[in-house]
Amino acid sequence: VAERTLVLVKPDGVRRGLSGEILRRVEAKGYTLRAVRLLDPAPALLQKHYAEHEGKPFFEPLVEFMLSGPVLAVVAEGEGVIPGFRSLAGATNPTDAAPGTIRGDLGRDWGTKVVQNLVHGSDSPESASREIALWFPEL
Ligand code: CMP
Repeated sequence: VAERTLVLVKPDGVRRGLSGEILRRVEAKGYTLRAVRLLDPAPALLQKHYAEHEGKPFFEPLVEFMLSGPVLAVVAEGEGVIPGFRSLAGATNPTDAAPGTIRGDLGRDWGTKVVQNLVHGSDSPESASREIALWFPEL
């Protein structure tokens, strides 16, 4: 199968009405949307998704933030989509993210405990398979 990544529009992105703009950028880049689902993630799903961050000071605020509203989960597909979406997303901190990126154009620092940065994208093929299985068990 073609390369796939998990994209999440986090609760800040959904709340601000940016889901369409974010999916537009993914499609405009030439990637294909394979699956899309709006859901209220269970705490257990988020704990598994963010397992690598367990024990870090921002872990609890991160999970709480991700529980603050619906999340749009997307499987995007295409050659190079894993690094390609990370590049579209921009740097983790929206203050540092370059203009032209999702976080650079649409994000900012709101003074919250955990940085609210609109989107998640898998960081490697291993993370992508693991995360897609968590968010889309039927795929
Ligand atoms: P992301 O890289 O998608 O997944 C982990 C998230 O944790 C990250 O986005 C930020 O939202 C948050 N995060 C990572 N590092 C920090 C940090 N040092 N301080 C606050 N939040 C962080």
